[in-house]
Amino acid sequence: MTRLETTVTLRGGAEIPQVGLGVFQVPPEQAQQVVEEALAVGYRHVDTAAAYVNESGVGAGLRAAGVPREEVFVTSKLRNGDQGYDATLRAYDDTLERLGVDALDLYLIHWPNPAAGLWQDSWRALETLLESSRVRAIGVSNFLVEHLQELASFATHLPAVNQIEVHPAFQQREVIAECERREIVVEAYSPLGQGAALESSVVREIATAHEVTPAQVVLAWHVQQGRVVIPKTTSRERMVSNADLGGLDLGAEELRAIDFLETGERLGNDPRTFALSQIR
Ligand SMILES: NC(=O)c1ccc[n+]([C@@H]2O[C@H](COP(=O)([O-])OP(=O)(O)OC[C@H]3O[C@@H](n4cnc5c(N)ncnc54)[C@H](OP(=O)(O)O)[C@@H]3O)[C@@H](O)[C@H]2O)c1
Repeated sequence: MTRLETTVTLRGGAEIPQVGLGVFQVPPEQAQQVVEEALAVGYRHVDTAAAYVNESGVGAGLRAAGVPREEVFVTSKLRNGDQGYDATLRAYDDTLERLGVDALDLYLIHWPNPAAGLWQDSWRALETLLESSRVRAIGVSNFLVEHLQELASFATHLPAVNQIEVHPAFQQREVIAECERREIVVEAYSPLGQGAALESSVVREIATAHEVTPAQVVLAWHVQQGRVVIPKTTSRERMVSNADLGGLDLGAEELRAIDFLETGERLGNDPRTFALSQIR
């Protein structure tokens, strides 16, 4: 049984499949084939970004797979170099053109880049897109508690989603608690710790006990706590097994044992300081 049919309801009513495919670091020339393959094995949720420079390939994959557009949940993200009200509206149009779609299901501000002081204007632009029904849901990524609190102080619409780094070694409990308080769905990026989480002896022992893979254990730990996950893989076999979580139900002790793997170490960039324009 797979988790590909399970959805989480977002603010505004859109349904996001709880397991999606992430395509960070999938080369542009491979993106079409990877997305086509993912849709062929049943994925209905793809997570890309302008900064990944593979939106055109993702779009080609969506078309080649032949799955009706309305059955696939497509997310992309605004890169830092496009922040600001007008620039955000332009960047959204460019993303739609590269993907070859009329609208996104979810558009995210990729990073707050607080030093630039522009994410607030970008949020207003996303609200404009939402209010004119040009996008189904809007959200943020890499937003910390302080950014969420500031956003809530002026926004007309709260984010549907905050996409953040979460894996056993880096669990972001404070940010997750803030999201839960504001009914913002948490999407875990790097959900497998970019592979590192799969090396843990705790995870491996649980996997052996359930006769599943370490990746399935880590993904079950996420989804049993209500998070959306977007594991990246270019392997068809792993696409299938990463979504095959239906029969796996970790016990409270097992969930707690994984909770104890927290080290507080990020794999990715720090949202307080990451300021790269992301435009290549
Ligand atoms: N918003 C942001 O700032 C941000 C930042 C980072 C990532 N993301 C999103 O989150 C997605 C996932 O994060 P990520 O790519 O950083 O890391 P991840 O999904 O935690 O890990 C991906 C790595 O794990 C391997 N892998 C996948 N399934 C596996 C399995 N079943 N067994 C063993 N290894 C497996 C992959 O290798 P193979 O490909 O060789 O299978 C790849 O090396 C990205 O693609 C992107 O969409 C967002």
